Amino acid sequence: MIEKLNTAEVNARIEALLKQYPVKQGALLEVLWIIQSELGWVPKEAIRWAAQICECSPAHAWGVATFYTMYKHAPTGRFLLQFCQNVCCHVAGAENIISVAEKKLGIKAGETTKDNLFTIVRVECLGACGSGPVMLVNDDFATDVQNNSLAMEQDVGLNEERFEKIINWCKERAAKFPQEPKRDPLGGITGSIHGEALGLDFAPPPPALSVQATAVENGVSIIWKIAPEVTALAVERKNGKKWETIGNPSVKDAEFIDASGKAGCEYRVIATSGTRVAKPSLAIA
Ligand code: FES
Repeated sequence: MIEKLNTAEVNARIEALLKQYPVKQGALLEVLWIIQSELGWVPKEAIRWAAQICECSPAHAWGVATFYTMYKHAPTGRFLLQFCQNVCCHVAGAENIISVAEKKLGIKAGETTKDNLFTIVRVECLGACGSGPVMLVNDDFATDVQNNSLAMEQDVGLNEERFEKIINWCKERAAKFPQEPKRDPLGGITGSIHGEALGLDFAPPPPALSVQATAVENGVSIIWKIAPEVTALAVERKNGKKWETIGNPSVKDAEFIDASGKAGCEYRVIATSGTRVAKPSLAIA
C-alpha cells in the first residue's frame, strides 16, 4: 500500500517539510498527516515508513500516531462522523444524538455503512463545548447545514432534524462529486479566495484574532489583534452578497472606524503575511 506514497508530489512535500525542522523527528506529525491525506488512513506499514523518514524509532512513531484521534488506523467511510462524547456534549444530549445516528444509519459507533459512505466514531472533547452536542464530518465541524455548506453556529448543537440535514447534505455531495476534493496540508479546503495559499506551504498565515465590530456614535468601530509577522490588513464590509474593501489600516493600528457603518453591518478583517493571505475573521456590528 505504501507504494502509493511514492509519487513526485508526496516526495516534494516531504522534502520541503523536512527542511523546516532542525531535527527530522519534528516533522513526524505532518508526515503522518500526509500519509492520511494520500491513503485515507494510516496503516502500520506507513507508520514504519514515516519513522524511517523522520529518523525515529517505529515505536515512537506508533506512540505518536495512536495518541491523536485525528489519525485513522483503519479505512473509514467517505464521511467520518466523529461525535464528541465528553462532559459538556454529554450533558447537552450527545448520547441521544449518537443513538439517533446509529439508528438512522443502521450501524453502531465504530462501524461503517455497507455503501461505505458513513463511519461513526465516538471521540473526546473537540474543543467546541459551547455548541454541544457537536460532531466533525471529516475535518469540519457540523451541527447544521446552512447555505448548502456544513455549519456550526455558536450555541447551535446537533439535534435530530439538523443531523438529518447533514446526512442528506453528505449524500447529495457524494452523488455530485465521486471523490472528496483534496484538502490542503493542514486540512482546510484548497483553492478558496482568501484561504490557505495553494502550494507547498505547511503553516497557515496567522489570521486577525478577537475581531469585534461595535456600533458607536461616529459609525462602527472594528478592533482586532494580529501576530507580529502580519504585513498588511484589509477591512471589508458586506454589501449584499459581495465583500467590499473599506480600508487598509496599518499593521500598527488596532482599530478602524467605518464612518458609514451601522448596527447589523457585517465585517471581516483579512491579515496578509508577505504573500500569504490568512482566512478572514468575521464580526457583526
Ligand atoms: S465536550 Fe464536546 S466539544 Fe467539548
